[in-house]
Amino acid sequence: TDAILEVDGCLFPADIILREGLAYTKNFPVREDDVFIVTYPKSGTTWMQEILSLIMNDVDISKVESVPNRNRAPWLELATAPVYLDGRESPRLATTHVYATFAPTQIMQGKGKVVYVYRNPKDTLISFYHFHNMAKFLSTPESFESFVSDFMNEKLSFGSWFEHIKTWMDVRDKAKLMFIAYEDLHKDLAGSVTHIATFLGKKLDAEKLKVLVDHCSFSSMKNNNMVNYSEVPRTYFDRGQKFMRKGTVGDWKTMFTVAMNEEFDAFVREKMKGYELDDGWTSDTK
Ligand code: A3P
Repeated sequence: TDAILEVDGCLFPADIILREGLAYTKNFPVREDDVFIVTYPKSGTTWMQEILSLIMNDVDISKVESVPNRNRAPWLELATAPVYLDGRESPRLATTHVYATFAPTQIMQGKGKVVYVYRNPKDTLISFYHFHNMAKFLSTPESFESFVSDFMNEKLSFGSWFEHIKTWMDVRDKAKLMFIAYEDLHKDLAGSVTHIATFLGKKLDAEKLKVLVDHCSFSSMKNNNMVNYSEVPRTYFDRGQKFMRKGTVGDWKTMFTVAMNEEFDAFVREKMKGYELDDGWTSDTK
């Protein structure tokens, strides 16, 4: 089904997110060396799960090749989170799609570290649109136009792209937080990984960096059953679609008309006033 849970004005897919999961998330006892991946859906979550799993395991491939990403970097808000997080040895890696206002309060007291990945909202929208046609816990869009309108009107599951990033930007002085764009990973994966490793107090030598970069390429991840969701039960995903879809920058150009694009860009500029991002895409609107 595609039932909705609404909490404090934010919508969640009720088949996979329960109030208990949100309470667990909020009250999560954070350890100093916990690392959290925070994203609005379809912004590069899986990519960052693989990158961080490797950085935190000293690029030991044997640590990631037999465990699915969702067990190595479990979502805090999912019902299975306690199984994979409570009592797990440090350093732990966890993932969440929630606004900062739903996140573990101890993160805002400076505990743990957060890597926030964001992506051009138009590409995020396109990827989320296709994902809605694949995931059974999300409603199938009536049309692309209606989906764009739902995105702009903050009517999608996991809430609003705008609210999401703004709530996290609002806590950047309280939380130990770094922002990185999907587009940066694309442009320079090795450089981005080095930057992330430094944030975590790690250093990778050239050989390890190369192993990581090769392992995390789109083609390699597309064929990796531990991250491509190919073994997830049919109850969740329609088998006809691929989770590792295109992995490109600028795919919005295949679906936005010139008029839609102009309207959307103006809307983003208005919404993000006072929250300007250091990104590679707000200027790339043509
Ligand atoms: P597309 O639908 O545009 O292909 P998330 O993991 O947050 O759900 O995001 C999924 C998006 O990230 C998908 O985008 C997917 O293809 C892309 N992605 C996953 N791994 C990637 C990689 N190694 N390189 C580039 N893009 C990747």
